[in-house]
Amino acid sequence: MSYAVITGASSGIGKHFAAVCASQGYDLILIARRKEALEEIGKVLSERHGIEYKVLVADLSDMEEVKKTYEEIKSFDIDIFFNNAGLGDAGRFTETDLQKELFMIDVNIKALHAFTKYMLSYFKDRGEGYLLNVGSSAGLLPAGPFMATYYASKSYVVSLSRALAEELKQEGSRVYVGVLCPGPVNTEFNDVANVEFALPGISASDCAKAAYRGMKKRQTVIVPTATMKLARLGSRLLPEPLTVKITAHQQKKKKGL
Ligand SMILES: NC(=O)c1ccc[n+]([C@@H]2O[C@H](COP(=O)([O-])OP(=O)(O)OC[C@H]3O[C@@H](n4cnc5c(N)ncnc54)[C@H](OP(=O)(O)O)[C@@H]3O)[C@@H](O)[C@H]2O)c1
Repeated sequence: MSYAVITGASSGIGKHFAAVCASQGYDLILIARRKEALEEIGKVLSERHGIEYKVLVADLSDMEEVKKTYEEIKSFDIDIFFNNAGLGDAGRFTETDLQKELFMIDVNIKALHAFTKYMLSYFKDRGEGYLLNVGSSAGLLPAGPFMATYYASKSYVVSLSRALAEELKQEGSRVYVGVLCPGPVNTEFNDVANVEFALPGISASDCAKAAYRGMKKRQTVIVPTATMKLARLGSRLLPEPLTVKITAHQQKKKKGL
């Protein structure tokens, strides 16, 4: 069987992308910084589903490591690539930490961008393949006060993915690019971002399954839950300044500001 590659496979949504793909018979390449977590996930899924797995440890904030990772995977027969690794941060922009934000931009934008470039070229040569970028419902909104850099980073992911999906459609390509835009998902995300959700989250397992289904149906923008689909519709109907105010209110609640 061909491979599914997952960045940020050591926890949360990425770990469940691995589980969904293994259940479909895909072999796995698991990428993140925490080697032991990746090895454990690979071992469990390999025993359960009889699949092969490979672990690659990389800090994707470092573009040399991103390039090296691609060099290591490109000889495998890859059918799916999940650009999933990412992190958030919250707070008033004048008070948040610049180094953490630059790190976030490196992982959420630069690494995702570089892998998108490498993998689209790889898939074009192969004739087909799936590239799913993990954005966020945050990326569908005009702006996210009090979580400004994270929202901006996810807007980049949504915009890039939609543009590339259209380019590929116009070429009549069989290569798929889509973007997953979940609302709150219960993962380690909040601990890293130092926030509490204002809304109840869905499980990472349900999120990954919905994403996989949407990807196989070749949906360009995948929004996993009815609540977030409604929120998206609402934000389109409201004037943008009002949507930004409501978003600010929700983010402030998360941080207790
Ligand atoms: N949870 C939510 O509510 C939510 C909603 C919308 C979108 N998302 C997006 O979903 C994606 C996955 O997040 P999650 O919610 O599953 O959170 P998570 O449990 O914190 O998982 C984040 C993953 O990214 C990896 N990662 C972070 N920095 C990395 C780096 N420098 N190099 C390599 N890997 C790195 C982590 O692995 P290591 O720590 O082992 O490196 C981990 O596997 C993110 O892009 C996030 O923005 C999450």
